[in-house]
Amino acid sequence: MHCCTAISALRLRIATLVLVLSPCVALYVSAQTTPATIQFDSTSGVFRIDAADSTYVFGINEVQGLQNLYWGRHLAASDRFAAAHSMPEASSFDPSVTVTPQEYVGWGGGLYVDPDLKITFPDGNRDLVLKYVSHRIDGDSLSIVMKDISRDVYVMLNYQADGETGILRRSATVENRTGAPFTVEQIAAGTWSLPRGTDYRLRYLTGRWAGEWNVQERHIEPGKTVLESRRGTTGAQNNPWFAIDRKGAGDQDEGEVWFGALGWSGSWQISVEQDQLQQVRVTGGPNAFDFGYLLKPREKLTTPDFYGGYSDHGIGGASRLMHRYEIDSILPRHPKLKLRPVLYNSWEATGFDVNEAGQMALAEKAASIGVERFVMDDGWFGERKNDHSGLGDWYVNQQKFPHGLNPLIDKVHSLGMDFGLWVEPEMVNPNSDLYRNHPDWVLNFPDRPRTEGRNQLVLNLARPDVRAYIYSFLDKLLTQNDIAFLKWDYNRNWSEPGWPAVTPDTEKNVYVDFTNNYYSILAELRQKHPKVEIESCSGGGSRVDLGIMRYTDEVWPSDNTDAYDRLLIQNGFTYAYSPGVMMAWVTDSPTWVNSRSLSLEYRFLSSMQGSLGIGANLNKWTREDLDEARKMVAVYKSIRETVQRGSLYRLITPENNSEQSVTETVSRDGKQAVTFAFLHSSRELYPFPLLQLRGLEENATYTLSMIAGDVGDGTPTTASGSYWMNHGLDLKLRGDFQALAFTLTRTK
Ligand code: GLA
Repeated sequence: MHCCTAISALRLRIATLVLVLSPCVALYVSAQTTPATIQFDSTSGVFRIDAADSTYVFGINEVQGLQNLYWGRHLAASDRFAAAHSMPEASSFDPSVTVTPQEYVGWGGGLYVDPDLKITFPDGNRDLVLKYVSHRIDGDSLSIVMKDISRDVYVMLNYQADGETGILRRSATVENRTGAPFTVEQIAAGTWSLPRGTDYRLRYLTGRWAGEWNVQERHIEPGKTVLESRRGTTGAQNNPWFAIDRKGAGDQDEGEVWFGALGWSGSWQISVEQDQLQQVRVTGGPNAFDFGYLLKPREKLTTPDFYGGYSDHGIGGASRLMHRYEIDSILPRHPKLKLRPVLYNSWEATGFDVNEAGQMALAEKAASIGVERFVMDDGWFGERKNDHSGLGDWYVNQQKFPHGLNPLIDKVHSLGMDFGLWVEPEMVNPNSDLYRNHPDWVLNFPDRPRTEGRNQLVLNLARPDVRAYIYSFLDKLLTQNDIAFLKWDYNRNWSEPGWPAVTPDTEKNVYVDFTNNYYSILAELRQKHPKVEIESCSGGGSRVDLGIMRYTDEVWPSDNTDAYDRLLIQNGFTYAYSPGVMMAWVTDSPTWVNSRSLSLEYRFLSSMQGSLGIGANLNKWTREDLDEARKMVAVYKSIRETVQRGSLYRLITPENNSEQSVTETVSRDGKQAVTFAFLHSSRELYPFPLLQLRGLEENATYTLSMIAGDVGDGTPTTASGSYWMNHGLDLKLRGDFQALAFTLTRTK
């Protein structure tokens, strides 16, 4: 056994310094303070990870399995743990292996709960029993080697602890050191085990096109809940995120929460299972449905990262830790992230009907209200008149842009904005030159129908030639044009996921190879064109996860831009993901979604809770509209650092058809708090609920300033944090679809 003791990472807690370079560029430089520590007690065989407010403990048990011993609130440094001992068999029906809370377990020896790894060997043998071999501690990282009892199947488990948030990142790598290929039929990054109990509630996210990000709750009962996508990509139907708390916790910011997210943009699954002895375990990795990865001798397969964290400040606290972790540890360029620029996008204004003169006219209007990035959406390439043709033919349409894109880009630059462009690289319309030349490039089963979605098919990105084609057209586009931003879209899911060009036993590798090629293209493009920023869009929010967030600067949460519907959509989004990456456009009223009319002010306030964009037809806006927009854009620039990087408190959620919705965000330096409040409809003379703010310093003094609307008569302009949080304030919100917003600035 390889013993290492108490090596702590020299990580220091983040204290954020903001260097303001220009109105839209603020760099975050992190000075770190609290170290994560990883210790191994060679006498008891126990590993202990302490990070931020949590402690995570597991040990090597008497059968050399890895067994969870504790996950929760931070424990005293002096606390010691007895050696792990596997649970005795509960009955002849429940052997020890299945009732023991395993860290990472192979399918074999009578395991009935979800395995972390299941392999079929060429001789038909499917028994896999993994034992601890060795480990290594390196700062805030721990790696452990396990091996099957007889075959040369090695598994390396990786743990990385974040000293700032306490979030652990786990993954596993399986290596084939046998002399023959074998098929990995199921592989997880690892299993999280909660303290044994029966009073747990699971929160998770569901949705569909134009209705993403619904927060669901269900009690965890004996049995299994599987959150998943079988669609080839992440999907909106479930998002790979979970949070589990005690059933009784009612307040957003109180109580214990165990939460996590899987960083994978392919088909995925997270199973939440309460076993026969009331042990709750959460296992996550690529979806086992239709899975089968052929691993040749000496090859390795690494799982996606599975992140897990603990908060004792309720679901709100869990979200804040996730947001912080995403910004400081996941997004490209972390921790030196730029603030999101205010963006204009042409889609809702023009549809496919883009051309040089029309885009230039919109660009002028956009610049006049303070927009910093102008994005041309779909319609600029190939024979793209509508969604029936053109996808795959990535040359500039000569009728629409006779002189290429450069005149438009130059114009946009001359107006003081940078330029962005829509692409949908993994797709092809059958009515395209690409498909006519390469009908074999799409996912398909020979002699079977090819199911279309929005008149398009999915290119098989696992194929090296498809990967090369996509990389090279994007590289050329970015080399020949001064493009600062790509909106990377993906407007359908897989069907007939065949890969006839490879041998049948390798075909299912498509689930992993497609996604890894997608990531590698993004990584390579970013390396070659370091200034380019990327948005992940999938017909709305169908490809949002911590895997893609390593390569993209922002995401598009939903095609539904109705500012009222957005309150619920944005609310659900922020359970898992930071408002700083949540693109939110102000669009025209009445909306195409619900034919609902909303004031421009309401629409702005709704979008200003995320990364502000404008998606309206500015040609139709009146002078007054443009003046109001200019004012709101300027206000947004003065609060965006708080909104995009601060600590979010959901004071009133719009869930369960609530009549009200209120968010408050406190900046990292504590100097500014921004509050947005929305009323659906007044009823029966009831006033808007009294608003008690959160996250302020009791003894500091804060000055109130209205962005829009008004507060109750008699509200002081200046008061202590204690006053705003305990006495609270009344808001003058009456009527239908009303909104207001204000800031509190710490003055003493
Ligand atoms: C998807 C996106 C939209 C827009 C269209 C263009 O639906 O989500 O924002 O880009 O495609 O076809």
